[in-house]
Amino acid sequence: MRIAVIPGDGIGKEVVPAALPALTALCETFGLPLSYDVLDWGADTWLATGVGLPDGAVERLPRTYDAVLLGALGDPRIPDMAHGREILLGLRRGLDLYVNHRPVVLDSGVIDIYRENTQGLYAGVGGSVTRSGSVTVAIDESVHTRAAVEDFVRYCLRRLRDDGRRKVTLVHKSNAVPNTGRLWQDVFRRELTAFPELTGSEEYVDAFCYHLVRDPSPYEGVLVSSLFGDIISDIGAALMGGLGLAAGASVCPETHFALFEPVHGSAPDIAGKGIANPYATLMCLALMLDHFGHGAPADLLRTCVREAARGATATPDIGGHGTTDLFMDTVLTLLDHHRPARRASPP
Ligand code: NAD
Ligand code: IPM
Ligand code: MN
Repeated sequence: MRIAVIPGDGIGKEVVPAALPALTALCETFGLPLSYDVLDWGADTWLATGVGLPDGAVERLPRTYDAVLLGALGDPRIPDMAHGREILLGLRRGLDLYVNHRPVVLDSGVIDIYRENTQGLYAGVGGSVTRSGSVTVAIDESVHTRAAVEDFVRYCLRRLRDDGRRKVTLVHKSNAVPNTGRLWQDVFRRELTAFPELTGSEEYVDAFCYHLVRDPSPYEGVLVSSLFGDIISDIGAALMGGLGLAAGASVCPETHFALFEPVHGSAPDIAGKGIANPYATLMCLALMLDHFGHGAPADLLRTCVREAARGATATPDIGGHGTTDLFMDTVLTLLDHHRPARRASPP
């Protein structure tokens, strides 16, 4: 595993360095080769040099690395998030990471939210007219191609089936936004016929949000376009107990390249206080280990992180009295404690 690490801004610069020792420890324990480089992309570099995503980065990254770990981007000094869009949306679109998997882990079960990551209102198509410094016309087009929706839907259905899930819900808004709604419904219904193991249903996004908050237990898999998926994944995070807990992966199924990114942002309201929760970033590392086929260390990491989160050294956002560092001390102690016994060396 060769990883490009982008801590980014705000609490990204706290939770990423805090969480990485857990990955190093697991790789040592399980004998997995690991190397990583830390890249300084983010607000400071943007403000100093005007560069967000360096020229050629999209071509270079997959040649040098197998995956990216991103903390978060966002800085009050750059209120329009221009650098964040260039870096984050630039990586997602440039590397065709069109599947954004955001598991919502609840006592009642896991809801696998699959969010399309590169199209719809995130296609980057639009423009505006400005007169005397104020915007008079603003257009952001929602663009979907059939081929990309098909690839997305087929991949997600396959993953859900292979993971033993039985129900999948398409979330859309075909009553008010009929063109994209109809395309998604048509593709979903056709692709679903190849997956007799899965029972499909369809819901309007407004009613879906209502049902999700009232009772998330019936849902297993959710397929959704980019903007609705963004909003739904924050609702999912709230159901889990907070944004500090929600992890995600942006994947290109064809190249297998992936960007692991918590759902949360740079949290300027708590940045610099040492209390940011590294849980979501740790769960991103578990998703990364899974992605590379290392299920045992991924499961061990999840077990230890969940156990640590129940203790007093958990961070305040989830009811503890700890700090980022205290929580990580607990996680690392648990990892050491639960380490599988070393096999005796052959004589
Ligand atoms: P946010 O997710 O940063 O924070 C929302 C709330 O959740 C805040 O109260 C914050 O303190 C809390 N929170 C988030 N993560 C936490 C953690 N790990 N531990 C404890 N509490 C946590 O959302 P925002 O305030 O709307 O956005 C801040 C900046 O981040 C903006 O610039 C936004 O554009 C950006 N953003 C970036 C990403 C990303 O890089 N992936 C994602 C979302 C938002
Ligand atoms: C997320 C974020 C990003 C998104 C922003 C920061 C561009 O909200 O990853 O959920 O909208 O995808
Ligand atoms: Mn979001």
